[in-house]
This record gives sequence, C-alpha cells and structure tokens, in this order.
Amino acid sequence: MNLPIYLYGTQVLRKVAQPIDQTYANLEKLMADMYDTMYNSDGIGLAAPQIGLDIRLLVFDLDVMSDDFPEYKGVKKTMINAQIIETFGEEVSREEGCLSLPGIHESVTRQEGIRIKYLDENFQEKEEVFEGFIARVIQHEYDHLEGVLFIDHISPIRKQLIKSKLSNIIKGKVRCHYRTKTSSK
Ligand code: NI
Repeated sequence: MNLPIYLYGTQVLRKVAQPIDQTYANLEKLMADMYDTMYNSDGIGLAAPQIGLDIRLLVFDLDVMSDDFPEYKGVKKTMINAQIIETFGEEVSREEGCLSLPGIHESVTRQEGIRIKYLDENFQEKEEVFEGFIARVIQHEYDHLEGVLFIDHISPIRKQLIKSKLSNIIKGKVRCHYRTKTSSK
C-alpha cells in the first residue's frame, strides 16, 4: 500500500525514533508498505518517520541505479533498530535530496564509511561495513531516525538561500508526483 510521505514541517520528522521489537503490530505489512511507498515516489531510501511513525526502521534499494553502477545490483536492505558504531574515512561532499524536502538538492559532506549494527527483516542481528554511496544513503536515512534532515548539514548561507522553498513546503505550496502530508493539512 502506497502511503503519503510526511514533508518538512511535520513534527514526526524532528522526533528521535524509538526501537521496536517483534511484537510491533503488523510489522510485515508495514515493511511492505514502506517499499511500496518508496518505489511509488521514485526514492532509493525511506525511513519510518517519513511515513509518520517514530520508530527505528529504514529501508533502501539501490537496484534502480544498477544500469549505471553494476555494483548496486540487488543492494536492498531493511534495517531495524540500526546503530552506527563508527564512521571512518575521508569526508566526501555530494548532492543529496529527500522525499520529505521536494525540490531541494544540496551538497552534503559525510564520512566515506560506516560500521553499523542492525536487525534485518527477520530480526537477525547483523554488523556490516559500508562505504561510498551506500554508506551515504544509510547515513541519510539514519539521520531521519535521529530527527535530523540533510539540510541541517548545510551552511547558514545555503540555508538562507532555500528559506522560501522551505516555507512553501511548510505551507503545502509544493508539487509532488507522490502523495504527501504537510504540516498545514
Ligand atoms: Ni530523506
């Protein structure tokens, strides 16, 4: 089921998300809905706060990029209660966007690699190292679980330049090809 994406200005995007366990209601359906919603909005990653839930659940699927980057073939993961244990490597800047911030793209500096612990969709414990673009996607989605958005990482000058775009999103004056929920409705 395709769910509306919560946009900038909705409070849930600023909450610190909480861990869940296997008793969480309808979790399988929820995970399937998150993938549906992500594919429907042409996203490559989605965190639960973006569908209005303050829980530590994120999904990503980079397969759509595999024509240009064969290494992303089948790179699809569900992460529950993820904890980044360490970040390492050089700081790299690259343009990011976010389904919750339609029309905004800004360069964000992040570290090259991460080591992360999480539970997969079957609640199996995993610990993995990711580098490069995958590590960036995970850090972006992980930020959502901490109530952080990519625009929090940009300079005050850049933030000033996108101020009117941000206030339009808050007012619901934004065009999207996917379903959205704004703070004004
Ligand atoms: Ni995002």
